[in-house]
Amino acid sequence: MTSRKIVLTAALPYANGDLHIGHMLEHLLCDYWTRFQKMRGHESLFICADDTHGTPIMLAARKQGITPEQLIAQMWTSHVEDFKAFEVLHDHYSSTNTPTNRKMAEFCFASLQKAGVIESKSMRQLYCDHDKMFLPDRFVKGTCPKCGTVDQYGDNCEKCSATYEPLDLKNPACSLCGNAPKPRDTEHLFVRLEDFRGFLTEWVPGHVQKEVSNKLDEWLSTELRPWCISRDEPYFGFEIPGHPKKYFYVWLDAPVGYISAIEEYCIKNGKKLDDYWRNPKTEIYHCIGKDIVYFHTLFWASILKASGFNTPTKVLVHGFLTVDGVKMSKSRGTFLMAKTYLKHLDPTFYRYYMACKINNGIDDVDLSLDDFTQRVNSDLIGKITNIASRSAQMLARLDNRIGDMADDGKALVKRAQEASEKIAAHFEERDFARAMIEIREIADDANKYFDTYEPWKLVKTDETKTKQVLAAALNVFRIMAVYLKPILPSYVEKVEALFKEKPYTWSSAQSILENHELGVFAHLAQRMDPKKVQEMIADQKAESASAEPPKPVKSAVATILPEIDIEDFQKVDMRIARIEAAQLVEGADKLLQLTLDLGGEKRNVFSGIRHAYKPEDLVGRLTVMVANLKPRKMKFGMSEGMVLAAGPGGKEIFLLSPDSGALPGQRVT
Ligand code: 2FM
Ligand code: ZN
Repeated sequence: MTSRKIVLTAALPYANGDLHIGHMLEHLLCDYWTRFQKMRGHESLFICADDTHGTPIMLAARKQGITPEQLIAQMWTSHVEDFKAFEVLHDHYSSTNTPTNRKMAEFCFASLQKAGVIESKSMRQLYCDHDKMFLPDRFVKGTCPKCGTVDQYGDNCEKCSATYEPLDLKNPACSLCGNAPKPRDTEHLFVRLEDFRGFLTEWVPGHVQKEVSNKLDEWLSTELRPWCISRDEPYFGFEIPGHPKKYFYVWLDAPVGYISAIEEYCIKNGKKLDDYWRNPKTEIYHCIGKDIVYFHTLFWASILKASGFNTPTKVLVHGFLTVDGVKMSKSRGTFLMAKTYLKHLDPTFYRYYMACKINNGIDDVDLSLDDFTQRVNSDLIGKITNIASRSAQMLARLDNRIGDMADDGKALVKRAQEASEKIAAHFEERDFARAMIEIREIADDANKYFDTYEPWKLVKTDETKTKQVLAAALNVFRIMAVYLKPILPSYVEKVEALFKEKPYTWSSAQSILENHELGVFAHLAQRMDPKKVQEMIADQKAESASAEPPKPVKSAVATILPEIDIEDFQKVDMRIARIEAAQLVEGADKLLQLTLDLGGEKRNVFSGIRHAYKPEDLVGRLTVMVANLKPRKMKFGMSEGMVLAAGPGGKEIFLLSPDSGALPGQRVT
């Protein structure tokens, strides 16, 4: 068999949060497959990276009082740690915020420009004056324009499923500060996807599963809308060359990260990127969830086409993880984080169970908690592991050597060996569930054989026969271990140590151990305690509840504003002011007119504090004002500054006052 060259990627996890067991589903699927391919002697690279750019990451960092770079560095470490604990082995795990990726994103953009498929258009978007940013769809909430349900996101309504533009929302509010955003024009760059219609129509059908292809036909049956690939500042990402203050939309540089991660791998290992991404012999697979099909099959395939890179051999789409038949839920404690799982349970269990459930379809994969415990205990421990532990421990009490086998034992082993290509075919198709069924059938066969001879009794009367039975049982177990190696790598490492053998490849299943001394038996896996599952869920429930972010309050404090440096702060000239006079303003029921004394200089200021203060109570009082605020012409006269106050509004406004001793005109620093 000639050796294949394979590149496999999993969707890049966002760097704004820890991994959950839904991420693990996808990475395990990839890990099983790439380990299998390696065992078959192929060059199979499993590549991934953190997806680090975009508004949510910028804001998450701001909220924590750290830079986005610090946040993504912490997340990278945390993700890598979790993958390692679940034995997910990437050949390279990178980040989209690398110089390699910046260059690659620029290259792909330049290629799109060269292909003449980029256009620039002005568009209206909602802008929050308070947060000084255009609001992404998910950062605006308002009333659904179709059905009138309140508190809906800017892109679709959860109640009536209508999709719309944020500008269509009624009573829109910025979900950061609660203020009403205003429409504002801005220039953006678009990829004209329609220009790729010919290529996409031809390419799509052969490169996705049938169910996915049907969905794509639907998308391709109408006009493909131009895809906006730029974002305004503030944005954490790569600035677009030639377009100051415009950044690549995260969905442009994220998939480009697949290529850059391979490039980094090549640099590290003395290889050439073109051997992978421009070599027609290299197979490229993107494994993704069904929510990001559009991005990968239409956007990404078009970018690759325009940039002269090979398009993927297949986009492999899988379903979502459900727990006990429903969406993972924070309130039920089933939005299980990888770290919470690891606190309570052995990752081997999850690896085993997911393999029993994952096939190559796009249906959701259910983690049924009772079934989970049951399958691990009855199959992995009861059926598979027990063959080894009972046989090896019994043999250790004899001479600890595998001797020869009787004919029925040889036949048993032969049946297990003959299943090799069938199981390999299921692995190749990523139908792990079917592969596991075949492996369990071998285990059933072996258990039947073992129980027929009852070696625990036989040993008292016929040691030679007992040893033959144990030799067959251990050989079959060893063959199962070879088949299970992509699924349970560390478990099988212990098996390799038990049999004192080199790391197994797929063909190791075709050899037989006779006259072979065993190593020391080490426990391969413990039973799963159902109580621990309950404890884990309770733990997650408590943790999710405590991590729930508080709802944004109108006029929230400035922690959500962009960070400024000291120079910015020093531009604000704040002074102590004495309120010399205060009076009502006719026709303005919220305002008071204040005359402020800055130690000689007088200022006229209108301030929206009428509901909180009676004018006569303010006269003579010291407060703080922004003295270098550009004068503002109001209906009632010129306002020459602003007094500082806190509180949500109405009666709850609290004017700032200095301690006694401060003098009018003094600078506040
Ligand atoms: O959906 C997500 O989680 C994205 N971070 C996946 C990106 S995959 C790729 F395109 F980079
Ligand atoms: Zn806002």
